[in-house]
Amino acid sequence: MDRRAFLRATARLAALAAFGQLAACTQSQPFKFDKDPFTLGVASGDPLSDGVVLWTRLAPEPLSGGGMKSTPVDVEWLVARDEGMKDVVRSSTTSALPELAHSVHVEVSGLDPDRVYWYRFRAGGVESPIGRTRTVPAAGAGPSALRFAFASCQNYVQGYYTAHANLAREELDAVFFLGDYIYEGTARGDIVREYAKRGWSFSLADYRDRYAQHKSDRDLQAAHAAFPWIVTWDDHEVENNYAGGIDKEDPRNKAAIAERAAGYQAFYEHMPVRAPRPQGPDLKLYRSVSYGNLATFFVLDTRQYRSPEIALCSELGQTQSGYCPASVDPTRTMLGADQRTWLLKGLGDSASPWNFVAQSVRFAQQDSNPDLGKHTFDGVDNWMGYVVDRQLILDRFATTRNPVVLSGDSHVNFVYDLKRDFSDPTSPTVGTELLGTSISSEGDPFVEQTQFTPPLKNPQLRFFDNHRGYVRCTLEPARLSADFRAVSTVRKPTATVSTTATFVVDDGKPGARRA
Ligand SMILES: [Fe+2]
Repeated sequence: MDRRAFLRATARLAALAAFGQLAACTQSQPFKFDKDPFTLGVASGDPLSDGVVLWTRLAPEPLSGGGMKSTPVDVEWLVARDEGMKDVVRSSTTSALPELAHSVHVEVSGLDPDRVYWYRFRAGGVESPIGRTRTVPAAGAGPSALRFAFASCQNYVQGYYTAHANLAREELDAVFFLGDYIYEGTARGDIVREYAKRGWSFSLADYRDRYAQHKSDRDLQAAHAAFPWIVTWDDHEVENNYAGGIDKEDPRNKAAIAERAAGYQAFYEHMPVRAPRPQGPDLKLYRSVSYGNLATFFVLDTRQYRSPEIALCSELGQTQSGYCPASVDPTRTMLGADQRTWLLKGLGDSASPWNFVAQSVRFAQQDSNPDLGKHTFDGVDNWMGYVVDRQLILDRFATTRNPVVLSGDSHVNFVYDLKRDFSDPTSPTVGTELLGTSISSEGDPFVEQTQFTPPLKNPQLRFFDNHRGYVRCTLEPARLSADFRAVSTVRKPTATVSTTATFVVDDGKPGARRA
């Protein structure tokens, strides 16, 4: 080898090391799986105009730790322009690391904008199922339409994922998942199927097995394999109603911090996210995604930085307005200072005609006091517990083009007009909230309810419905159309789907109208 060839080879090795591929070439041992390692399916997410994240995890024994030895394993990946995987445009090998539960996150680049691709993995002589994904339109491109769905809350034991089976059959560019992907607790409620491992999730091993159980569901796998997902989390990815904005130095918080670190690690290992690897109890998840010059989605993290939750309103009393004193305390925050600044600036700077805030919990105000002359705003786990941050966003919405909040968590469907000042019914509507029901959490409704007439106490509420399902949206420059999709049951493994209601938001007219 002459000096020039040597330098070229050295430079190539350096480049390989920089991409983390050297480890794969040198450390991994070739071997054959005798059981399928792709039991958790494949997924893609966080699409860009030139790339996407591809995900899988090697887990021949998914419900009991994964069944892998503690050595890295080579995983080949391919991206093709055709479903038959003949026209391969990108391929390489990465390393599935034991410290990440043998999950892989491949950040593919060099793809064409606004195009469907197919992908698959290969490891130890076994091929994965083929997944389908899609890049976003280039910056400045004007797509005529964007089709997406959003969903949340998929308690495994409380229902079959019939919603995902139907979601996978839709024609979509992307899916937004808004939290409660797993439930960390024991099986509760009306149980239609069991966890393999009962009890609460506290350790990394617990969370990994709980993710694996949820992801072993074939309908969930089908929905992942069909579209790129853009995910955020809510509380149950760690613990019911947890608030991350606690003092990490306080020794009393040691157990909560350790639990959060385990939950974040397992979340990362099982999601097709571009986010950097979690550093203990920290994982930056908030981010934005733009679809050409049609729409920007601001994806929030409403858990990691929020001030500790207050006790129930009833124990603390209320202010004259109907809020708990702590809910209106200006020192308390839902988003944390950095994320709040990022969101307000992002909304202010956005040139997109449509601006979505995709996040986990109810944003609008809703009065729960049955007495016409009294008010109670006791949603301490949602934005009613963090009024100051909400008002800053509502004020910004007044000058934002077509702001729409997408939410989950409530396990029912709601459509709200977002008022600049919720205490004044004559205040202008500055935005729209579409809150989607659960995939399975709480099971089939005992009594089916669908209501279109705004209640006297809550005239901002345009729609209420308690079916299980998801929300399918079509966005065009002139309008957003949202179909509330309801499945016939989650008590059986198969179900039909139908549209309970369609609501439309017209360009330049905040608030939804029934189509
Ligand atoms: Fe939930």
